[in-house]
Amino acid sequence: MKAKISVPARRVTVSLGERSYPIEIGVGTLREAGPAIAERTGARQAVVVTEPGIGRRYAGALLQGLRKAGLRTARIDVPSGEKHKSLREAGRIYEALVGAGADRSTAIVALGGGKIGDLAGFVAATWMRGVPFVQVPTTLLGMVDSGVGGKVAVNLPQGKNLAGAFHQPRLVWIDATTLESLPMRERAAGMAEIVKAGAILDADFFACLEREALRALALDMDALLPVLERACAIKADVVAKDERETGLRMLLNLGHTLGHAIEALQGYRGMLHGEAVAIGMAWAAQRSEELGLAPCGTAARLRELLARCVLPTALPPFPRSAYLAALRVDKKRKNGRIRYVVLRGIGKAETVPLTPAEILPAAALGAPGRAKKRKAAGD
Ligand SMILES: NC(=O)c1ccc[n+]([C@@H]2O[C@H](COP(=O)([O-])OP(=O)(O)OC[C@H]3O[C@@H](n4cnc5c(N)ncnc54)[C@H](O)[C@@H]3O)[C@@H](O)[C@H]2O)c1
Ligand SMILES: [Zn+2]
Repeated sequence: MKAKISVPARRVTVSLGERSYPIEIGVGTLREAGPAIAERTGARQAVVVTEPGIGRRYAGALLQGLRKAGLRTARIDVPSGEKHKSLREAGRIYEALVGAGADRSTAIVALGGGKIGDLAGFVAATWMRGVPFVQVPTTLLGMVDSGVGGKVAVNLPQGKNLAGAFHQPRLVWIDATTLESLPMRERAAGMAEIVKAGAILDADFFACLEREALRALALDMDALLPVLERACAIKADVVAKDERETGLRMLLNLGHTLGHAIEALQGYRGMLHGEAVAIGMAWAAQRSEELGLAPCGTAARLRELLARCVLPTALPPFPRSAYLAALRVDKKRKNGRIRYVVLRGIGKAETVPLTPAEILPAAALGAPGRAKKRKAAGD
C-alpha cells in the first residue's frame, strides 16, 4: 500500500540571496506546516489571517501543527470579498494583533487566496516595520501567482492595490488538497495565469498544459503537482531576476492591460481576474500576429487552450471609446504609450510601447469574436 504523503512532495526556491525562500508543494500537508514555519521565521507566535469559510475548513489543521511546533497562536478572520482588502481591515488586524500580544517576533501567516495574501502581507510589511510573513495559499491563483513574489497591497477607493509594498514571505506552503473546496470557476481563473506563464516564457510547459491542464483542473495530483511546480518555478525565476518589476517581471502582465480595463469597465463585479486576463491574452496574441510579431497560429493555439479550460476569449461588448478611456488610466503608461506585452510566439514575449488606439484599433475590434465564430463553424 502506498504510504500517505506526509512530507512536502516538491520544492521550488525563490533565489533572492539572504531573503531566499522555499515554496513547498505537497498533498495533505497542512498539518505539517508548523515546524517549517517555526524554523523559517524563528517566531514564537504565529497569527493566522484567514476568511471565515476558509478558516472553518483549514485553519484547525494549520493551528494545531503550529502549536505542536511550540508556537503561540491566534487566528484573525477577515470577511470574504475583495472590498475587504482595505485599509480599514488592515486597521482591524493591527488592533487584533495588539489584542493578541503580538510583537516583533510574531509571524503573520496568510491562509487564503490572493486577497488574504495581499492584505495579511501588507500588515506583515508594516506591523512593527515588518515581521516575518508566510503564505499558505488556498486558491490556484494564490499558489502560482500572488503567493509568490512579495507584492503585497490593499485597495483604496480610488483604485486597486494603490497602497502596498514588497515584502517577501519566508515560506510559501502549498497543500494542493485545499483546492478541493475551490469552485471550478475559480480554479480555471487560476489556470489562466498558469497558461500565461507558459505562453510568455516556456513553450514546453505550454505544450504540457495542452495535454494536462484539464486533468490538473480536475485535481488529478499526478498532473497537478508538476503543473504547480513548473508554474511556481517560472514565477520564482522571474522574481529572482527582477524582484521590483523593472524589466522581465513586466512580461507577467501579458493579458493584464486589457484585462484590467475589462475589470474596471465591469466595476470589478463582472468576471474573475483570471477570466479578464484570458480575454486580454487572447487579444494580445491576436494583435501580436497582426503586427507581424508572432507567427500565424500563435493566437489560435492560445485561444484553444484557454477555451479548453472553459475560459472566455471574446471581448465583452463595451464601446471602443470606453475601452480606450479605461486603457488611458493604465499605471504602466509613459508619454501616452503603454508597455504592452506581446508574444513573439508561444513561449516568447516582449513589451512594445503602444498607444491605447494601437492596442485596440477600430479595424481589429471583434477579431477574437470572429475567430470564435470561425471555430464554431468548423466544429
Ligand atoms: N500580489 C500579487 O502579486 C498578486 C498577483 C495576482 C493577484 N493578486 C491579488 O489576488 C487577489 C485575487 O486572488 P484570488 O483569485 O486567489 O481571489 P480570492 O482570494 O478573493 O479568492 C477567490 C474566492 O475563493 C474563495 N476561496 C479561497 N480559497 C478557497 C478554498 N480553498 N476553498 C473554497 N473557497 C476558497 C475566497 O473566499 C474567494 O471567494 C486580488 O486581490 C488580486 O489583486 C495579487
Ligand atoms: Zn493576474
